[in-house]
Amino acid sequence: MILQSSNSSYLIRILTFLIFIFCLNSLYAAEGGPCKDYGECDKFEYSLNDMESLQRGAATYINYCYGCHSLQYSRWGRVANDLQIPEEIFFENLVFDKSIKPGDLMTGAMSEDSVNWFGVAPPDLTLVSRYKGDDWIYSYLRAYYEDASKQYGVNNLVYPGTAMPNVLLSLQGNQRLVCKNIPVIAKNGGEKRDEFGNTITKEKCGFLEVEEGTGVLSKEEFDTLIYDLTNFLVYVGEPIKATRERIGWYVVFYFLIFTALASLLYREYHKDYK
Ligand code: HEC
Repeated sequence: MILQSSNSSYLIRILTFLIFIFCLNSLYAAEGGPCKDYGECDKFEYSLNDMESLQRGAATYINYCYGCHSLQYSRWGRVANDLQIPEEIFFENLVFDKSIKPGDLMTGAMSEDSVNWFGVAPPDLTLVSRYKGDDWIYSYLRAYYEDASKQYGVNNLVYPGTAMPNVLLSLQGNQRLVCKNIPVIAKNGGEKRDEFGNTITKEKCGFLEVEEGTGVLSKEEFDTLIYDLTNFLVYVGEPIKATRERIGWYVVFYFLIFTALASLLYREYHKDYK
């Protein structure tokens, strides 16, 4: 009896703790999302076993981003190896400075003057997926729009007033904020109609739209490019992640087997007390 009551108070304590954590979580969510004017960040699901995606991401990164952003905690040889790119091919195509060796850190090509050029030095991006989140990066790189009042003629919905120019503009095309007529939603969740049965609309602004024919890539192709790039940044943030997650399943599997064996052993010992 005593045992039972202490068991249930233990349960209540755990439940209270879980409810507390839950409330804390929703409190943070109510504070205004991390993607600012963009609203909810777009969801990003990494796929670290997709080598082709990671290889494309690495190529895009080195061609378009590495000039400003170092990856100072990664080594060239490790990236080539993890992404299963033969070292000769990797060094021939992606490493432009021929004095670099596989064991060197990816310390970047940016000079100290960059603070004066941008007002803020482009940060190292090795760990960006860890502190900003992959959803944030995926949304940020697709949320640039034309804004003549800014230094580079662009602004960003996710990071308003960013000091980073839109380096992928030629690929994506000229994205602008447009207004659209959207149906007014009635209280019952359906579209509101006037007495003639026509849908009532109102103008809403702030939609992103690419001016047709201004970019090299289609919308889908550009989204894939940013997907691969973000996937690569998730890999760089924790190169061991895919292995860690695979081993995690083995551990869970091991515990299941072990629990079964231990409970059988327990039953066997228990026979002596009957
Ligand atoms: C011309 C230099 C330049 C290039 C090229 C460039 N960036 Fe940036 N980037 C910056 C600067 C400057 C900032 C800092 C912006 C700020 O804080 O206002 C920045 C910030 C960022 C951030 C936010 C980091 C943080 O901690 O807030 C991310 C993510 C990012 N860049 C990704 C990229 C990616 C991916 C590419 C390649 C497609 C790229 N950048 C290319 C200059 C550059």
